[in-house]
Amino acid sequence: MERVVLGRTGLQVSRMGVGAGGPSQIGVKTGLSDVESVDLLRKAFDAGVNLVDTSEGYGTEEIIGSALQGRNRYEIIVSSKKSTRRVEVTPAALMESLDASLQLLQTDYIDIYNLHGVVPQDYGKLVDEVYPTLVAAREAGKIRFIGITEMFGEDRQHTMLQAALADDLWDVIMVGYNLLNQTARRTVLPVALKQNVGVQIMFAVRKALGNPENLKPFVDALIDSGEIEASEIDRGNPLGFALAHGTLPDVAYRLCRDEPGVHVVLSGTGNANHLQQNLDTFERGALPSATMGQLHHLFRNVVSTTGQSLD
Ligand SMILES: NC(=O)c1ccc[n+]([C@@H]2O[C@H](COP(=O)([O-])OP(=O)(O)OC[C@H]3O[C@@H](n4cnc5c(N)ncnc54)[C@H](OP(=O)(O)O)[C@@H]3O)[C@@H](O)[C@H]2O)c1
Repeated sequence: MERVVLGRTGLQVSRMGVGAGGPSQIGVKTGLSDVESVDLLRKAFDAGVNLVDTSEGYGTEEIIGSALQGRNRYEIIVSSKKSTRRVEVTPAALMESLDASLQLLQTDYIDIYNLHGVVPQDYGKLVDEVYPTLVAAREAGKIRFIGITEMFGEDRQHTMLQAALADDLWDVIMVGYNLLNQTARRTVLPVALKQNVGVQIMFAVRKALGNPENLKPFVDALIDSGEIEASEIDRGNPLGFALAHGTLPDVAYRLCRDEPGVHVVLSGTGNANHLQQNLDTFERGALPSATMGQLHHLFRNVVSTTGQSLD
C-alpha cells in the first residue's frame, strides 16, 4: 500500500484509510459482531492501511482500541473527533470527550484530533472558545495534530473549510469529495496543497457510487437540475466509458486518490469482500488520463449532491 506524507504533519500515511463512521461503521451498523469488526480492521492493518478515522459519536472507538492491541502504537495513525452539533462544546466538555476517547481507544495519545462536522455558522465561535483548548491538549501530549471536518450535507460547497483554510490554523482537514460532486477540487484542494495542509477525503463512494443501479437516479436528478448536460451522458449507462477500467467503487476511489492535494481517501465498509476489493483498488495504478478528463468534464457543474441521498 503506497504511503505519502500527510502535509505539514510529516506523518507517513497509507493512501487508503479506514473510515469507522459513515453508513457501515466498520460493521456496527450492518450486523457484524464487535469481534468481526475488530477482524475487519486488523485485516486492513495487515494489508498496509495505517490510518483509521473515528469519532466520539460513532461508537467505534472501543473496537479500534481492541484492534490496536498487540501492535506497536506508533504503527497506526488514529484520527478521532469531538462532536460539535447539538452538544455543548466548552473547553471542559472538549477535555472530557478527549479523555473518554483516549480511554476507549486504550491509548495515551490521538494522532489527529478533529472538531467534527463544523457548520459555517459555528466556526468562528469554536475557534474563539475551544481552539486554545486543542492547543493545550497538544502541548500536554494528548493529541499530536489538530484537524477539522465539515458537515458536507449542509455545506455542499465547503464554505466552512474555505474559512478554515484562510485562517490556516489546522494541520489536517476532512472534506467531502467524489466523482459526482467535485466542488472541492476547485475551492478547497488547491489551497490545501499550497498551504501543505493534510487532507482526508470522505464520501468517495457512499450510496450513489456503490453500484451502477444506485447511480442512475442521481444522474437523472442532476440532468433535471441542469447540472449535467443531457446530451453529454447516456442515462441508461451513465459511466459505461469509465467502467471499462474497473467497477464503479474502484473508479470512484481512484478518482479521489489521484486528485492533487489529496493524501488519504477514507473507505468505509462492514463487508469483508468489499474491504478486499477496496484494498485491491488502492494497489492499482491511475485511471487513463482521458477517462479522468471525461469524468471531470461531465460533472464540472455539479454542486448540489453529496452522493448519499436524492434530496
Ligand atoms: N463530518 C465528518 O467528519 C464525517 C462525515 C461522514 C464520514 N466521515 C468519515 O469518513 C469516512 C468515509 O465515509 P464513508 O464511510 O461514507 O465512506 P465511503 O467509502 O464513501 O462509503 C461507504 C459506503 O460505501 C459502501 N461500499 C464501500 N466499499 C464498497 C464496495 N467495494 N462496493 C460496494 N459498496 C461499497 C459501504 O457499504 P458496505 O458496508 O456494504 O461495503 C458504505 O455504505 C467515514 O467512515 C467516517 O470515518 C466523517
